[in-house]
Amino acid sequence: MNYDAQYEVKGLKYKELKGLSAKQISFHHDVHYAGYVKKRNEIHTKLKTVDKTQANANFSDFRSLKKEETFNASGQILHELYFDMLGGDGSFSNDMNIIKKINEDFGSFDNFKQELFAVAKAARGWAVLCIDPTDNKLRVFLADLHNDGAVWGAMPIIALDVYEHAFYVDYGPDKAKYLEPFFSNLDWKAIEARYNKFKSVYA
Ligand SMILES: [Fe+2]
Repeated sequence: MNYDAQYEVKGLKYKELKGLSAKQISFHHDVHYAGYVKKRNEIHTKLKTVDKTQANANFSDFRSLKKEETFNASGQILHELYFDMLGGDGSFSNDMNIIKKINEDFGSFDNFKQELFAVAKAARGWAVLCIDPTDNKLRVFLADLHNDGAVWGAMPIIALDVYEHAFYVDYGPDKAKYLEPFFSNLDWKAIEARYNKFKSVYA
């Protein structure tokens, strides 16, 4: 049954990054991200035996588990994307498909970066570059929580975490200072591979 699924915490290919310390990354990965995976597993276990006959929209154990399932599942998915797309040196070539698509849909790479950073400053949780299935355009969506702000069917390509836990060790309350280090560590080869994997589905 699908609630039998139990997930492993994915390892990291790096310990620290330029402008993001080992302590910052360790807290973020080993405590916060791992916490979502563990809680998702715990929720799966409880969903196997919870009394569904008591399901109720005002309050019920089943409702609580299903609500928190989306929070922790989305927390797992977005964090795996966040960590997977870091570890590069920020360099890319203009003939990459993802760069061509960014230039096409945002008008220029600088416009894209400006939009990503603006959404990051405005968000309480995430700025997520997605392929929007409505018209196959790239857009940056804003999420205040892992499970609040997702657009159905949109495929996330880059997830920029702006929860305080993502930057507070290194930058305290200065969220804006964390954005350039994040961007300069992007692994555009991994981003290109992810975009290529999904672009044919959305084209
Ligand atoms: Fe996070």
